[in-house]
Parts: sequence; structure tokens; C-alpha cells
Amino acid sequence: MTSAGDSPTKRKLSETPTMADGTDGSSPEPDTKKVQLEDGTAVPANPEKPVHAHDYKQNGKWKEITKENANFEKFYRACNIVPGGDEGFTQFMDSMRSDLPSTFRIVGSKAEVKSFRAILESQFISKMADIQIEGKPIPKPSPVSWIPDQRVWNIGLPRLLIRKSPELDAFHKFIVQENTEGNITRQELVSMIPPLLLDVQPDHLVLDMCAAPGSKTAQIIEALHETPLMEDGTPALPTGMVVANDVDHRRCQMLVHQIKRLQSPACVTSNYDASLFPTISLPVEDPATQHPLSNPLQFDRVLCDVPCSGDGTLRKNPAIWSKWNHANAIALHNLQIRIAVRGLELLKIGGRFVYSTCSFNPIENEAVVAELLRQFPNELRLVDTSDALPGMSRQPGLTQWPICNRNLDFYQSKADIPAAETQHIKDSMCPPTPEEVERMHLDRCIRILPHVLDTGGFFIAVFEKLGPIGSVDARRAAYANVPPPADDATGLDDETLKVLGKLRRPKGGDAGPRKSRFYTEDPT
Ligand SMILES: C[S@@+](CC[C@H](N)C(=O)[O-])C[C@H]1O[C@@H](n2cnc3c(N)ncnc32)[C@H](O)[C@@H]1O
Repeated sequence: MTSAGDSPTKRKLSETPTMADGTDGSSPEPDTKKVQLEDGTAVPANPEKPVHAHDYKQNGKWKEITKENANFEKFYRACNIVPGGDEGFTQFMDSMRSDLPSTFRIVGSKAEVKSFRAILESQFISKMADIQIEGKPIPKPSPVSWIPDQRVWNIGLPRLLIRKSPELDAFHKFIVQENTEGNITRQELVSMIPPLLLDVQPDHLVLDMCAAPGSKTAQIIEALHETPLMEDGTPALPTGMVVANDVDHRRCQMLVHQIKRLQSPACVTSNYDASLFPTISLPVEDPATQHPLSNPLQFDRVLCDVPCSGDGTLRKNPAIWSKWNHANAIALHNLQIRIAVRGLELLKIGGRFVYSTCSFNPIENEAVVAELLRQFPNELRLVDTSDALPGMSRQPGLTQWPICNRNLDFYQSKADIPAAETQHIKDSMCPPTPEEVERMHLDRCIRILPHVLDTGGFFIAVFEKLGPIGSVDARRAAYANVPPPADDATGLDDETLKVLGKLRRPKGGDAGPRKSRFYTEDPT
């Protein structure tokens, strides 16, 4: 097998230099240290630590997490998110209690994917048939059938087991190394769905509103780089780019770390509350007066992967079992709507908007989607994606869900909500009326259940913007007939423009001190 120190598949998305590498270059999820025994074998530094993700340390002793939560069961039975009656629900719960298999995506062109696959198969997979862990044979890593080009692979084993098993040490090192090099991206399978449905093209301007730690941003960057080959056989650089934003500056560091692996010039990061994401203004000139105007920038694609209660990640975050409660979803609902509305304001008319959570809860999912369609009935529609990703089994969005308070006291209708509860249970959390059901097509939303594809849980809704939403569109309409000045669109700095003889001066005098000409921020 290949030694980890020397990546067999060294390549990058582009040779363009990127941000300075100030970090250690390891995977965003740091790997447990190994120690070398006298005979040369590497074993985990802490051999007492169990290999199951469901264990935790208390008073210096490892204990098993109890994967039970009566309220979780009660709520989701009432929501009817799982088809197939009791049997279906039991399969759902059994799957939720099992460890999540690890997956990764190969980065690069089809040819590069092919050559990576060849190395993976010849150097690792062919030798794995003989490996046993705790006396049991291990599954064979296999490509995920519903993602094209055999680009995504399911290792079939949980991440922690791969990391802690001496038998898989070389394979683990290979995976970590290739991830660090940017040749693969380790990412949970369901988390790959929103960027796939975002349909990013190399010339698109994309906003990733809640981007950290950056798994989906990485995928967007990869899509931007799916450009045609140039004459010298290398792929052209994309003309589009992604703005990857997150409110949490520590998580922004993880985001930068994740992105820099890919060495792409097509990404910038920002650190704003997405619900107040500033309007970025492009300089244009009034053709009549030559006065500078400022034209608000809008995006071709917006990904809105909002903060959520995260119960779809229970398989890999079992600590959530003991903490789960419905109050978390109630607390996040308003923020989720506010972030989504800002994203829709910043989206071009005709552009695509993907809303996603790793939660099952309809209050964070269909209720948010319904509220957006309520606020913008003529400006927004849900896209039917049933033909996309054939083979990916999904549950349609709910059109009805229970109304209840934080303690799971259920109410028949909105009218039954006690006055004291109305400060928590907002109208927007209630299911739609029959007329709204008719026009909203909430069944076009996608819910991924863990037992169907042996994955985590996820929720995705794909929107198309049909008409103006908010002040950004109103301002943009004012600039509709103002052509952008050609020089300013070059992106060159003043010195370079001067050398090229293109620096524009106001009529009748010296320019004086100049203000920033490119991408000035204009909070609205
Ligand atoms: C579900 S995670 C995003 C995962 C990310 N898209 C990925 O694929 O790696 C949600 C993120 O939202 C961020 N967040 C929370 N509130 C936010 C806000 N008001 N504005 C922007 N980001 C926010 C959190 O810091 C967190 O990183």
C-alpha cells in the first residue's frame, strides 16, 4: 500500500496561487494521534478509548450513550415523517441508533476521477477483502450509484472505526492525506445533495450564506471549476465565484482551512450575520451626468444551509440523543426565515435558491418554506426536482404537521393555542390552509430518512425566484438601463489601469484622492 507521506494523486484544481497557508494542513476534523510500537505497527495513542462513536467519557471512564429519547419518538410519530406505519418507524429508529458510514468525494475532472479510482481500487480496495476487524470481515468501499461518474464513495464503515483500527491504518492515512491535498473531500453523503441541486455553472456568482465549516462551499468550488479544457489540456479557470459567509469567526477559520485545500481563486469568505448580509455595490456611471452610481450586486445561486437543531446528524453526533427537545426548533424558526428572506433579496430574478437543514423537524423545514411562499406568492416557486439524481430515494415534503408547544402538548388548530403560548408558537409555525396546500406544492420538498439509503437525515427545498423581492431588486431596477463602464469591469488596480492608459478621470480636473472602485459595501 502507498505510504501516507507521499500522495499518489498530487494535483490541484488550478495552479493559481491561493491564500497563505498559515495552518498545519490537517483535515478539519483532526485525527487521533497514533503511536509506533517496537515492531513498527501504529496503534491509537489511547488504546482504552472505545472505537464506537456512541461512547463518551465521564469521571475518567468511558460510558455508552443511551440512544433513546421518548420525546423525539413521540414528536416524530405525530409528525408522520416516516412512511410504513410501526414497521417503518422501527426501521427509522434502528437506523438512527447505528453508526454512520463514512463517505468521500473525488475532486477534479472526469479523467482525474478515473485515475483516482484506479489507484483506490488497485492499492486499497483489492486488499481489503482479507481484512477483518474484531473477527468480522469489513464491507467493500463502493461508489454511490445515484451520483454520476463514480465520484462519490461510501467506505461502509464509520469514521471513528477507520481511524482507530490498526488494520485500516494505511487506508486511513491515504484518505486523510488525499483530503489534505484537495484530491478528495470527506463529506457526509446527504450534505452533498444541496450543492448538487443548486446546479452551479462555472460562470455563476454564488452566495453560500451559512458556510462553515465549508463542506458545501468546497463542493460549490468544485462545480465552478468544471470548465472546458484549454489548448494545453488544463482546465480553464472559472469566470464565476462563490462568496462563503458565516457569522461565527472561529468557524470561519475552519471554512478558510477547508477551502484553501482546493487552491482555487474563485472564492472569498466573509463574516456577517447572514440575515443582515450587506448589499455589495458595483460602480456604474450615470450615462447622462457621468456621476458615479452604485448598482447592487445579486447572485445567480444562493445556498441557505441554515443553523438548525441538527437531529438528522444523530448517527454521527449521538450526544444529541440526551439533549433533543422541540424547543430548539422553535427557537431557530424565526432566524431561519430571516436568513432565507435576505438570501432571496440577494438572488437574481430567475436565479436558484436552495434552503436546507440537517433536521427532520417540520418547524425548521416545511413551515419555513411555507412562510416564504406565503410572503412571496408570485415571486417564488418550488422547483420540482423529482427527475434530479435518479436513484436517490426521498420523501416528499409534508403538507400537514402537528401544532405543539415546547413540552409537546398538542393543539388541534391554531385557534386552540393558549394565549400564553402564542409568544413561542408563531403563526408561521402552523401548517398551511387547504388553499395554501393547493398552490404551494410543499410535496416538492425533499426529506432524506436514514434507513432508506443508510445515510444521515436531511431536508432540502429548491426555489426559483420569479419576481422582485425587497429593496435590492427595487434598487437594481433603477440601474437596469445603465451600462457598466468597461474599464471598471476589468478588476485591475489603478496602477495597472494607468499603465494601460485606461484610468478614467472626471471631466475637467484631477481625480484627487480616489475612493474604492470595486465591490464597496453598502449595508441596507
Ligand atoms: C449547518 S451549519 C452550515 C454547514 C455548512 N454549510 C457546511 O456544509 O459545511 C450552519 C452554520 O450557520 C452558521 N450561522 C448561525 N447563525 C448564522 C447567521 N445568523 N448568519 C450566518 N451564519 C450563521 C453557524 O455558525 C454554522 O456554521
